[in-house]
Amino acid sequence: MNEIRRVLITRQGRKFYAKDLNQDLHTQYGYIKKEDLKKAKDGDLLKSNTSKEFFIFSPSFIDLYKKIKRDAQIIPLKDIGVIIAETGINKESKVLDAGSGSGALACFLAAIAKEVVTYEIREDFIEIVKANIEFLGLKNVKVKHKDIYTEIDDKNIDVVILDLPEPWLALDNCAKALKPSGFLVSYSPSVPQVADFVNAVRKNGRFVYLKSVEITEREWEVEERRVRPKSKGLGHSGFLSFARKVT
Ligand SMILES: C[S@@+](CC[C@H](N)C(=O)[O-])C[C@H]1O[C@@H](n2cnc3c(N)ncnc32)[C@H](O)[C@@H]1O
Repeated sequence: MNEIRRVLITRQGRKFYAKDLNQDLHTQYGYIKKEDLKKAKDGDLLKSNTSKEFFIFSPSFIDLYKKIKRDAQIIPLKDIGVIIAETGINKESKVLDAGSGSGALACFLAAIAKEVVTYEIREDFIEIVKANIEFLGLKNVKVKHKDIYTEIDDKNIDVVILDLPEPWLALDNCAKALKPSGFLVSYSPSVPQVADFVNAVRKNGRFVYLKSVEITEREWEVEERRVRPKSKGLGHSGFLSFARKVT
């Protein structure tokens, strides 16, 4: 279970996490007494010894999600949002994801789907995924130590998401696992992967190719009337390709 007990947010939006309520919480803005941490209710305003103000809350899913262990490159929130929006994943959905990596996508989807099964070939990553599932208190995620290119032993899946180097090698297995009308989503960082995946989908015959997109997110600075894009550059994450299993 997660060891984060309370979240504290400054008026400027800086977040701090209190793990042990029997200890003072030390921050760059001074420390907050353990007695205050213990007795505070959600939304209370606490002050550090230097009079810095902090609002205190119980952690929500997203607060905890942002503290999961990461080893493999995880998929960013902007891309998770579009996967959910385009495929309509909801509380009735059975979702399959591969490879698990750190389990970020699997865990996020488990918070909204009925069940998630995640395939991973590396045992060291499986340990991280299991730790993250436990940390988030999720009960509806199954982790399988399997190569998705070789076999998928799940059926009637609503959405499959592939985040691995050669997604086209999993197409036949995905076609068997997905129910008719189910969605296949591939997330790849490079253009040749998109080309090879989409060409293979078109050739396969059991899918209708829908679209490929890149989601760019530009954060803005808003300080009084100084409103402009943040100066740090726009990074690249990956391209999303969507297909639908038809037969
Ligand atoms: C970029 S990571 C996935 C990150 C994940 N989507 C997340 O958000 O945490 C890719 C993972 O795919 C795994 N992988 C590669 N080939 C695989 C295969 N054939 N079957 C299952 N997993 C595979 C790798 O070991 C790696 O952990």
